[in-house]
Amino acid sequence: MTSNATPEYLALTGILQARRSIRKFRPEPIDDDTVRLLADAARFTPAAGNAQPWDLIIVRDPETKRKFGDIYVEQLRQKNRLEMTRDADIRFFGDQPPEPKAGFVDAGLLIVVIGDPRLIDAYPLRTKIDKGAQHIVSSLANIVVTLHYTAAALGLGSQYLSDTGSPEMEIMLRDLLGFPEPLRAYETVCIGHADTKPSSRFVKETDEIVHFERFDQSRSKTDAEIRQFIIDKLRPSFKKVL
Ligand SMILES: Cc1cc2nc3c(=O)[nH]c(=O)nc-3n(C[C@H](O)[C@H](O)[C@H](O)COP(=O)(O)O)c2cc1C
Repeated sequence: MTSNATPEYLALTGILQARRSIRKFRPEPIDDDTVRLLADAARFTPAAGNAQPWDLIIVRDPETKRKFGDIYVEQLRQKNRLEMTRDADIRFFGDQPPEPKAGFVDAGLLIVVIGDPRLIDAYPLRTKIDKGAQHIVSSLANIVVTLHYTAAALGLGSQYLSDTGSPEMEIMLRDLLGFPEPLRAYETVCIGHADTKPSSRFVKETDEIVHFERFDQSRSKTDAEIRQFIIDKLRPSFKKVL
């Protein structure tokens, strides 16, 4: 059977498969041209209502990155204490939290994605009331993912830092980076030269996630099955990367 896969599809899926979360970087700088290539690509990201509710703060100064890392580590201690209150089998890191560290400070570049919630006024009124905040978040998530794939296309590694938007970290970053209210810190994309080759990660099979025409209810899962899926399929891979 012939395939409809075009060269563009093959190039795209090559990048989709090659991108992995990198959590250890070689401390090499990222030049201005690369920063430009990343930001130029990112601005074509789809946004709800075409509102483009984003700003990108490019952090390359080693001292700022170090302070950023300290803020991250500090809030991680409390996050890990909270995690210890959960049942051990579903705990994110198993028995004991690993010693908090900020490997991303070695990445040449941190891109802090800032969101402007006032742009909910770009949406139709019902959408604004109904899911305005959600649309802002989805749009910001889109630009984050564009940055990750663009980095992969440039042969660079990248890491999500979603604690960026947590209250404590956001307040400290507002002070460090100077973005005013009502702008919000959404996420940080750390980009640099990978110093690690991640082990294989669990990826669901195509046939597991696809339903033709109607949801196949024979594949509905109970709460207990979902919990077991997390324990069996997701926790081992997290233990490997941490
Ligand atoms: C919304 C979101 C938040 C994430 N937050 C973090 C994070 O804070 N730190 C981190 O190291 N990885 C984070 N990740 C990366 C995921 O852990 C990773 O994508 C997943 O385990 C699959 O591995 P892969 O990226 O190597 O394919 C996040 C991913 C997403 C989509």
